[in-house]
Amino acid sequence: MKTVAAFPRPFKVRVRHTRGVSLPDPQPEELDPACAIQAKGLRKAYGNVVAVKELDLSVRKGEVVGLLGPNGSGKTTTILMLMGLTEPSDGWARVLGYNPLRDPLSVKRRVGYMPDSVGFYDHLTATENLEYTAMLAGLDAASRKARIREVLTHLELSNVADKKVGTFSRGMRQRLGLAEVLVKEPGIIILDEPTSGLDPEAAREFLAIIRALKERGITILLSSHLLHQVQEVCDRVLLFYRGEKVLEGTVGDITRRVMGSTRMFMLEVAGTDPNRVLASIPGILRLSKQGEGKWTVEADRDIRADIADGVTRGGGRLLALSDSEPTLDDVYARYFEHMRTKDAERAAMNSTEEQKFVRAGERSSAEEQETKGAAPQKEDSP
Ligand SMILES: Nc1ncnc2c1ncn2[C@@H]1O[C@H](COP(=O)(O)OP(=O)(O)O)[C@@H](O)[C@H]1O
Ligand SMILES: [Mg+2]
Repeated sequence: MKTVAAFPRPFKVRVRHTRGVSLPDPQPEELDPACAIQAKGLRKAYGNVVAVKELDLSVRKGEVVGLLGPNGSGKTTTILMLMGLTEPSDGWARVLGYNPLRDPLSVKRRVGYMPDSVGFYDHLTATENLEYTAMLAGLDAASRKARIREVLTHLELSNVADKKVGTFSRGMRQRLGLAEVLVKEPGIIILDEPTSGLDPEAAREFLAIIRALKERGITILLSSHLLHQVQEVCDRVLLFYRGEKVLEGTVGDITRRVMGSTRMFMLEVAGTDPNRVLASIPGILRLSKQGEGKWTVEADRDIRADIADGVTRGGGRLLALSDSEPTLDDVYARYFEHMRTKDAERAAMNSTEEQKFVRAGERSSAEEQETKGAAPQKEDSP
């Protein structure tokens, strides 16, 4: 590692800015010392694919923020830009005041980053893997030992400390990944899809650990496509759609904004088809089947009495009926239903616009032909 210093200095200057792109810097007044992470106009294009579109992001110190959205919506790319692992096409980012593009090492030293697939030396034990990480992080032998013992206990891995990592379950590997991140005692941790591939129980345990880290004042940015799963640990979430941040706020805020006064009910029935007996209730917005005899109902008012009435009159039996809070998945589904409708409308409009455009284009080129000789010469700008 130390041999890096032996390289002639000019190399350093050429490490980044590979395409000579000049990216904007923040104005001093844009930087907020209460924020651990800030970004503005952050954008990443891979050829024609815009992975992240002009993203504004701020994570206050001590906050837990979720980058949520389906696969391919730009979460990982955002994280890679914040870590200085990929170069933005535009915009700026600061992590604890450091520019990840120009000073990635300072960022990496202070941020515990867990990528979406964590790699370990499978033939080594958990402790040996952590030893290696701690050594790379520059911890001396005595503090390594103490830190490793502490994180293994904290992540409930003490009993498998001397087992080869190759034998670990996915849940154990994720916890070991977090242990590796925590060995460095970072002020910020960034976790990419930390619960993906975990069974519900392991995911719950993992999220409980995240909650405990928050209690210690650690700033956490995590990404996930499992919205309902992570929503409760996040102080704030950013919902992504095709590289764009489409909604931002607390889960409560976003839910209210998207769902408005919509109420949701869970319903379990036997002996009748709710589709048939409930459709005529005024105020009902949607009925969706969740499983055998299980339904969710959306309505613009409290229709529980009407549901009970409808099911009984339809000859069915009401096994359960409860009020339910919409989850982020419901919010997301509702939002995108709205977006898809708008997309379809826009597509329909574009095809008529396109026709108009073609016609206008035909006309203007014809006009151009006619007026060419008479038109004054356009002055070239200097
Ligand atoms: N190295 C790459 N080269 C080309 N396209 C990429 C690359 N990385 C990501 N993308 C594209 O960028 C978009 C966002 O990807 P990603 O950030 O991985 O999304 P997410 O993490 O939300 O699943 C996707 O369309 C993906 O195919
Ligand atoms: Mg990803």
